[in-house]
Amino acid sequence: MKLTYYGHSCWQVEVNGKNLLFDPFISPNELASHIKVEEIKADYILITHGHEDHVADVERIAKNTGAKIISNFEIINWFAKKGIENGYPMNIGGKCKFDFGTLTYFTAQHSSSMPDGSYGGNPGSFIIESTQGNFYHTGDTGLMMDMKLIPLLTKLDFAFLPIGDNFTMGIKDAVLASEFIECNNIYAMHYDTFGYIVVDKMAATQAFKNAGKKLSFIEIGKSENIK
Ligand code: NI
Ligand code: MN
Repeated sequence: MKLTYYGHSCWQVEVNGKNLLFDPFISPNELASHIKVEEIKADYILITHGHEDHVADVERIAKNTGAKIISNFEIINWFAKKGIENGYPMNIGGKCKFDFGTLTYFTAQHSSSMPDGSYGGNPGSFIIESTQGNFYHTGDTGLMMDMKLIPLLTKLDFAFLPIGDNFTMGIKDAVLASEFIECNNIYAMHYDTFGYIVVDKMAATQAFKNAGKKLSFIEIGKSENIK
C-alpha cells in the first residue's frame, strides 16, 4: 500500500492497484495550495460526512476522474442531484466487497450536514480490509466506546486519527483511541488547517511515544509506502 497526504483529513491510499481518496478538501485549504487538484487520481472517493472541510473537492475530482463515490445514503443522494450518478450508498455497520478489499462503514461521534445546510445523515468512518493490509479512517469523531469493537472485527495495520481537538478528539483522547483500536501505527490528521485546531506536533509525538505508539505527521503532498 502507498499513502499520500493532501492535508486536513484527505488521504489517498493505493490498495491493490486502486486509488482510494478520502474526504477531499484541498482547493480551499491554504496549507495545500501547492497541490494540483486536477492531477489527483482516484478510483473511489470515500466521504465520511457532509461537512465542507470533507467534501469541498468531491464534485470536481469525481467529474475529472470518473471515480465512484462511497458514503452514506443521504450524501450519495445529495451528490446524485449534482449530476454525480456514480455513487455507492452504505450506512452504519454495513460492509461491502470491492475490487480493492472489503469496506465497512462504521460509526463516528460528530454531526453531518451538507454545505448547503441540507441533511447529511449520520457521520461515519471507514474500515478497509484488504490482502495488502487493514486500516481505519475515523472521519471526524470524538473518542467513543465503539472503537473498542474494532479489534473484535479486524486487526489494523494503521489508522488515520484526528488530533486537532475542538471539533474532534485532541491528542490525549487520540492516544486512548489508538489503545481502543489496538493499533500502534497512527497517522495524524485534522490539525493546523484552522486556528481552532493548531497542535503542538512535538507534544503529540511524545504523547504517543509515551504510550508505546508511533504517531506520524506526513507533509502535505508527500507519500509513504506501507508494507
Ligand atoms: Ni466535521
Ligand atoms: Mn472536519
